[in-house]
Parts: sequence; structure tokens; C-alpha cells
Amino acid sequence: MKVLLTGGAGYIGSITAKALEEAGHTPVILDSLLSGPRAFVRDRIFYEGDIADRALLGRIAEEHPDLDATIHMAARIVVPESVEKPYEYYRDNVAKSLELFDELTALGLPRVLFSSSASLYATKDGFEVTEEDGLGTGSPYARTKLMMELVLQDLAASTDLRAVILRYFNPIGSDPGLESGIYVKEPSHVLGQLVLAARGQKPTFTITGTDLPTRDGTGIRDYIHVWDLARAHVRAVEKFDDVLAEVAAPSTIINVGTGDGVTVRELVASFEKVFGSSVPLTEAPPRPGDVVGAYANVDKAAELLGWRAELSIDEAIASALAWAERRQEILGYE
Ligand SMILES: NC(=O)c1ccc[n+]([C@@H]2O[C@H](COP(=O)([O-])OP(=O)(O)OC[C@H]3O[C@@H](n4cnc5c(N)ncnc54)[C@H](O)[C@@H]3O)[C@@H](O)[C@H]2O)c1
Repeated sequence: MKVLLTGGAGYIGSITAKALEEAGHTPVILDSLLSGPRAFVRDRIFYEGDIADRALLGRIAEEHPDLDATIHMAARIVVPESVEKPYEYYRDNVAKSLELFDELTALGLPRVLFSSSASLYATKDGFEVTEEDGLGTGSPYARTKLMMELVLQDLAASTDLRAVILRYFNPIGSDPGLESGIYVKEPSHVLGQLVLAARGQKPTFTITGTDLPTRDGTGIRDYIHVWDLARAHVRAVEKFDDVLAEVAAPSTIINVGTGDGVTVRELVASFEKVFGSSVPLTEAPPRPGDVVGAYANVDKAAELLGWRAELSIDEAIASALAWAERRQEILGYE
């Protein structure tokens, strides 16, 4: 199959491109390089440009008349920045996605896989969430994702567009071949912070929130190896029509996680085991906007995609550490 992959120069996009290739498919990358590094595109078919550039989309469709589906990952993704710059987030994630979907439909490219997020879920007793559970968005970023889910459902109900919406939990780790991984200089997410503290690039790792209503007081997440997440996209592309036939609807939402909830203290314990020594810790109150968290009920992914996460959290941590050693070579910075 040939797949248009927006955001294919990014963290998840570049690894999904590789998973598609390993399964015998051809990704066609569309990325503006707003944040993704050129090096992650490698020698893949690449269009540097914006998702809302209709002329460019027309050219891509003309040059690749055999496109089977689009995976739409391109977005602005930094939660605190979305609070400071709501206009840019709504313009890029909402308005531009709308243009993209309309143009794809006009070009006769109706199959869209959309990158959504577990950050849409409201906190629930027990923390395990199904696709039917209540939503509660805490930031402009999360609201852009919710809006696009609703837009896709409405478009699918009344046009030729068809949508499979994947709600990602917390991707960690890197490409198993160590060709791409986290590229931001100072990652703000928990595993990135742990890697920095372990490598002595910052003095301590700070656990933010130790009084939360979880089994040890720290936030709970569902950390999924990014390679497993990439493989879920391959399945979703391959089974796109079957999935929608099975649910008898023009669009559907699927959780993509491991099905295991892991607290920050548990993550630190796993990290120290894999790293082989302890990491200096400090504790602080939750940051504004921090949520207690959630983990995925993954029954729907298993049933519709025939997919389950296979890699362990230890393997994901080892892969993040290996990438930290390697990335200087690929990105030119540590
Ligand atoms: N990383 C996570 O923890 C996470 C969790 C849930 C969902 N997601 C979603 O997964 C997707 C990929 O995330 P990521 O972590 O790989 O982010 P990323 O920032 O590494 O990748 C996004 C890519 O989109 C490109 N881009 C942004 N705006 C564009 C535009 N207007 N036109 C063309 N290209 C554009 C960027 O240059 C970048 O390469 C995003 O939609 C994100 O919201 C990510």
C-alpha cells in the first residue's frame, strides 16, 4: 500500500514510516519541518510543505495516484505552549486539518487515520478508560484534538470521508534501529526528564505530585513503546475498510495503549533497574494542568485491529537510553 503520512518527519511519524516500510508499504511524507528534523525523513519520498496547501496536495495526488490512505499526524503538540499560543494551535491543528480533510475528500482520498490523544479522557475511578468513557480536556492542545475528532465524525457522516481515530496513550522509546527518537533538546515528559537526570544533564528528577489518589500518590499513565504504536498504524491502514465494516459506521475511535497503568514511582523503579543505578529524586506539587492520569482498556484494538502491544516497559526504557547515546550522531546535539 502507499500511504500519505503528514508529520512524517516527527517523532512518531518517522518511526511509523519505518514500520510501514518493514511491512512492505510505501510512506509518502508531507511535513513542513516546523519541528521535525530533516534527518528523520532519510531517503523517503518527501514533500516539504503545509498540510493546508491545497495545490501541493493536488500535486502529491497526481504524482502518486495509487495512494490508499492518509495518516494525519502533523500538529503542534506542546501542551504549555498551547496555553500561551492558542491561536497558533487552533489555526494549525484545527483550521489546517479541516482544509486537509476537505481537499483529500475532493481528491478521492477518503481514508483518514487520525492521531488523537488519551489526554482527552476525564479522570475516572480505577483509571482504566474505554473509548466510551467521559472526556474532559484540560488545555487548548487537547481541545484541538477533541474538535478534530468531532469534525471527522461529522464529515464521515455526510461525505465520502472515512475516519479511524487512534487515541494514543504515552509513547516512549525509539525506533528499534536507533534511526529516530525524541529530538527536542529538553524533553518535558517524564521519561525524557529521567534520562536527563540519569545522564547527569540535570541534577535531579522531580516527581510532580505525590499526593494524588493513586496506589502510591503519583500520577498514573499507560506507557507504550513507540514501535508498538507504529505497528498499530500499520494494522489500522491494512484493515481500514474491515474495521469500519465491523463497527458498521463511517468512523470509529480506538485506544492504543498497553492496557497497564504505571505510576511515576513504578516508572522510576523500572528505569533504575534498566539503567543499573539510582537516579537522584526530588518531590514537588503537581504542575498546573497536571492530571492524575489514565490507562487504556485495549479490547477494541485487539478485536478490530488484531493488535496488542508486545514490548515491555523495560524494553522501551532501554531503547530511550540507547537513543540518548546515539542521537548526537544523527541530530548534531546531545
Ligand atoms: N508524543 C506524544 O506523546 C503524543 C501523544 C498523543 C498524541 N500525539 C499526536 O501524535 C502526532 C505526532 O506527534 P509527535 O510526538 O510525533 O510530534 P512531532 O512534533 O514530533 O511531529 C509532528 C510533525 O508535524 C509537523 N507539522 C506540524 N505542523 C505542520 C503543518 N501545518 N504542515 C505540515 N507539517 C506540520 C512537524 O514539523 C513535525 O514533524 C501529533 O498529532 C500528536 O498530537 C502525540
